[in-house]
Amino acid sequence: MHRQLPLLVKMFSDPQPVLDRLRAEYGPVVGLGFGPAKMAIVGGPREVHGLFGRPVEDFRWNHKFNALAVVVGKQSMITSDGDDWARRRASVQSAFSRRRLNGWIPMILEQADAAIDTLPAHGTHDVDLYRVGRAAILEIVVRAFFGESMADRATTFGELMQRPQDYLELPAWKQFPHPFPFGERGRVKADRRAFDELVRHAIASIRANPSGDPGDVLEVLVHDDSVGEQEILDQVNTLVGAGFDTTAASLSWMLWCCGLEPDVWAALRAEADDVLGAPGGGHHDGADHTTLNRLEFADRVVRETLRLHPAGVISPREAARDIDVGGHTITKGTLVLWSAHLSGRDPAVWNDPLRFDPARFEEMTGDQQAAADAAWVPFGGGRRNCIGFALAKMELTLLIARLAQRLDVAAPASGKPGPVGMVVNRPRGGVPFQVTRRT
Ligand code: HEM
Repeated sequence: MHRQLPLLVKMFSDPQPVLDRLRAEYGPVVGLGFGPAKMAIVGGPREVHGLFGRPVEDFRWNHKFNALAVVVGKQSMITSDGDDWARRRASVQSAFSRRRLNGWIPMILEQADAAIDTLPAHGTHDVDLYRVGRAAILEIVVRAFFGESMADRATTFGELMQRPQDYLELPAWKQFPHPFPFGERGRVKADRRAFDELVRHAIASIRANPSGDPGDVLEVLVHDDSVGEQEILDQVNTLVGAGFDTTAASLSWMLWCCGLEPDVWAALRAEADDVLGAPGGGHHDGADHTTLNRLEFADRVVRETLRLHPAGVISPREAARDIDVGGHTITKGTLVLWSAHLSGRDPAVWNDPLRFDPARFEEMTGDQQAAADAAWVPFGGGRRNCIGFALAKMELTLLIARLAQRLDVAAPASGKPGPVGMVVNRPRGGVPFQVTRRT
């Protein structure tokens, strides 16, 4: 164990090189640690797929290493198991119906324009597009879940989410649980209380003046007698938190991948000019799912970015019983860390895996396509897959199309930076581009 310690410390601060090394040296399933800190890294596409095919009861998400609970609470779907999880997931599922998501297409494009319109209209400027994209995604997510009723609170939500998200990225020993109201953990809890206060106000105003909007998740939860107030608060916090940081990180990687490839940027722009109409800011009332479906190149760019740079490099769950994964026995109590990063770069599936090449998705044979579909797992798989995957994909497709259409960008000559972030993988230093608005 003592020989593994430096490796484990490194893995939980800068996971990708360690994962690559372990995969190359030991294969698709690697055991680490011992006793209550036993872990298994599952990185082979076949093995990861095998995990997703197993019953959810084989695993626990509410386990001893789940650090999320201090931020999202214990009544969130993301920290629950069994019947509680199923009920909690079902209670917000209506927000993610395809018909409902399609209704957000004009709003997403309008928010993209609003973000672009905050940039100087003339000249070339140094801009961190990570911050611009993150703010836009927060506006979109808050509107998508709660309609316009909470839109004026989006910025405050973002501010109150920042400390908890930074906290989750701290090394484990700095997250040591304690009940006291001081230290970083105390401040995280204070921000969570302030967040809850905003939501409580919104709950009170819904009770006083229900809008009857079946798409307002908060209203649906408030009218559901089986859901208590703490559960509403935890679920709202989860949806906003899980919904914007991951997507913002993915947009940033996508900007790097495309900003370094003028041909890709030009192809995105040509498609957007064709599909989205005038590049000037404006209304998008006519945009619908056919608009989205026609952004085929942007869709491939999204898929290729998420293959190379999934927001979750490893995702944890605990084995609730002994399980067999590709001929390896993972014993009950082991922390299973499946890796979208390793599966997305597996050379047996992906030709020249480290190359950013959106065209790879159109050139595949049927067999290659099936293997790629199984190995492409940035949103997980099975019944506990990402509930927000269609929303995230839609946002990323529309945002990259509109950004490429309306901005000229120059990436720094230093090239794509390395990753930072254990919980959410994003480019170190953001996206500091030179940006010119297209006239
Ligand atoms: C590019 C953006 C995103 C990525 C890469 C991503 C990735 C993931 C992954 C890998 C999981 C499964 C983890 C596991 O196996 O335990 C997950 C779960 C989840 N995601 Fe996302 N996600 C994204 C965006 C979103 C959005 C927009 C939402 C919307 C609110 C969201 C909400 C959730 C929730 C609530 C869960 C837990 C589901 C459950 O436990 O049943 N995510 N996400």
